[in-house]
Amino acid sequence: MPGLPVWLFWRVSILINLPNLLTPMTTYRIAVVPGDGIGPEIVPLGWEVLSRAASVFGFELQATHFPWGAGHYHEHGCFITEAGMEQLAEFDAIYFGAVGLPEVDDTLPARCYTFRVRNTFEQYVNHRPVKLLPGVLSPLRNKSQEHIDFVVVRENNEGEFVQNGRMLRPDKPEGLATDTSVFTRKGVERIAHYAFQLAMRRRKRLTNVTKSNTLIYTLAFWDRVIEEVAAHYPEVEYDKMYVDNASATFVLRPEHFDVILTTNMIGDILSDLGGAIMGSLGFGPSGNINPEREYPSMFEPIHGSAPDIAGKGIANPIGTIWSGALMLEHLGQQAAARAIEQSIAATTQQGILSRDAGGRASSREITDHILQALSTQSATA
Ligand code: NAI
Ligand code: MG
Repeated sequence: MPGLPVWLFWRVSILINLPNLLTPMTTYRIAVVPGDGIGPEIVPLGWEVLSRAASVFGFELQATHFPWGAGHYHEHGCFITEAGMEQLAEFDAIYFGAVGLPEVDDTLPARCYTFRVRNTFEQYVNHRPVKLLPGVLSPLRNKSQEHIDFVVVRENNEGEFVQNGRMLRPDKPEGLATDTSVFTRKGVERIAHYAFQLAMRRRKRLTNVTKSNTLIYTLAFWDRVIEEVAAHYPEVEYDKMYVDNASATFVLRPEHFDVILTTNMIGDILSDLGGAIMGSLGFGPSGNINPEREYPSMFEPIHGSAPDIAGKGIANPIGTIWSGALMLEHLGQQAAARAIEQSIAATTQQGILSRDAGGRASSREITDHILQALSTQSATA
């Protein structure tokens, strides 16, 4: 403002900027649940990266820690309390490690914590990117970054994992057990819409991985509903593949895939195979998403609590850190999410890798490189 005396200039500019100065910084309240095994080692590292991203990109993350998991069950008789479930509902998102310990009955962790949260908060999408990072050697000979870049969209609330069954007289000769899958039209339609919309934002190709040639009721219904939804997305190239063939295709021609839409159990198995072709299970991120945002979504690495390597400081923290990036994306902080992903890539590209991926770096060293890359990135952004 030429011609204004300096003192008046400052007063005018303070007045003009007053709304910005008075607007509080966007704050997200995050429930942090490290869980068991390697969870309490790598979730805090992931949180350091998230906090750095928040300070660089100008928003605030507030963590509240919860002790839920098999360790809590061991001491107090439950994985999570009723009040704990109600508390979780109040957060913007949940940042989770994994649950399960060798000394605790392993039929409990999914039922008592993971599935309970996924179902109660209608996190019906399990979004699992499979992407080879630079500097990481895939166990697939001749496959590189341009061949391995897809997303497994796994139905997360129904299907084979509804735990609807019985075990009768298991110790007797006449012993029997059942598990009955449940597929609903509403459940299949909503996951299909999510997957097709994701395909529209990517390379516009969707593969339904199914087994309707043998599961002739549930998965034939699954295919039928998906094909009805496919008609709403004519731009997306749609194909159907049986899971046995899909498993082989993961290994032989992963470049076939862009978005995979599949059931709860098939998605569980295929996403570990996805982790394997990325070079280690320790790289895989995931989001358990409630797209309507009525409830908090939960972000966790695809691996479990890895008790065999817990306490050594050698776990690969990248799946957990990358899951944090998915969380920021869900919260609307796209630039910060991209910056974390680029910092992960910059780190692996330099060959800073943990033992599971053929390197020698500790969880701490990898995180420090990611933090440093994040600072450099933001300085140049
Ligand atoms: P897991 O994923 O914990 O481990 C499988 C193998 O991969 C192990 O050799 C482990 O050392 C390795 N691994 C996993 N994550 C790694 C990382 N970040 N860095 C380096 N190596 C890593 O699966 P497992 O052994 O079948 O299950 C162990 C426990 O975790 C069980 O109690 C299981 O129920 C639980 N689990 C929990 C999940 C969850 O909370 N969402 C998911 C899967 C398993
Ligand atoms: Mg799994």
